[in-house]
Amino acid sequence: MRFAILVLFAITLAAAAEQRWTIGVSQCNLGEPWRVQMNHDLEQAAKAHPELTMVFKDAQNDTLRQRAHLEEFVGAKVNLIIISPKEAQPLTQPVAQAMDAGIPVIVLDRKVIGDRYTCFIGADNRLIGQAAGAWIAKTLGGAGKVVELKGLMTSTPGQDRNRGFRAGIKGSKVDVVFEADMKWLETNARKEMESALARFPDLKLVYAHNDPGAHGAWLAAKAAGREKDIQFVGIDGLAQEGQQYVRQGILAASFEYPTGGREAIAAALTILAGGTVAKDIVLSSRVFTPVNIDQGGEPVGR
Ligand code: FRU
Repeated sequence: MRFAILVLFAITLAAAAEQRWTIGVSQCNLGEPWRVQMNHDLEQAAKAHPELTMVFKDAQNDTLRQRAHLEEFVGAKVNLIIISPKEAQPLTQPVAQAMDAGIPVIVLDRKVIGDRYTCFIGADNRLIGQAAGAWIAKTLGGAGKVVELKGLMTSTPGQDRNRGFRAGIKGSKVDVVFEADMKWLETNARKEMESALARFPDLKLVYAHNDPGAHGAWLAAKAAGREKDIQFVGIDGLAQEGQQYVRQGILAASFEYPTGGREAIAAALTILAGGTVAKDIVLSSRVFTPVNIDQGGEPVGR
């Protein structure tokens, strides 16, 4: 009897040592450098934990496909889901359904509506937008015609970067004469900027909600021979993208938007081990300009 109990104990111990967790990752679009970086950050952080098996899915910028990801992960009974949702509203219910099925969900970067998720991780987009607005008002000496190229307005970073920016320029004479939803995509930004250039001969600056958008606008201005008359500001600040644009003199500023990949794996490990994490984990940001880039940028304050 005693021997049997010992054997049972040993088997239980061995099973615990071999405990493996499967994490399903639903990425909304891998066609953009920032999202490739997010997956890379997740993968790198997970590598140090052989007990984790990562399953990555790419929704290719298609909300329906991303809804299907969640159903597939629930059907496969993964242990935890990480999602960076394309849009807030249509992904809210699938996330809630995964929670109802007993699967913890970490939402990364773009939010869903309400609080039916385990943990949200991301930077404060309103704060970044506001800091960008204040920086732009100061850089323009308080006045000037500006273009705002917005991220997808059915996603929360687009909404928050817009609201924050408007608060940041409030009280100045910065005038947003042209605004368009370029849906986070460089090609759309370039087209919208062509229209803005055709209509306004005296533009001073473009505020784009991401660096691909700012770069698309710069390409349009360059093709029109006007890139030297206009300043370009973006958000993301990747080492290989936004920071390079700042070094090359293409962007006047890029605001960092951390991917949260490393923090998501840390939170996942805590949750899987039965611990609790904060409901909202807010990541900090930096601003890169030609003046501070060699010092690693400057923190964006609260
Ligand atoms: C990539 C991206 C980033 C942006 C983020 C906002 O899809 O557009 O450029 O900062 O999404 O969610």
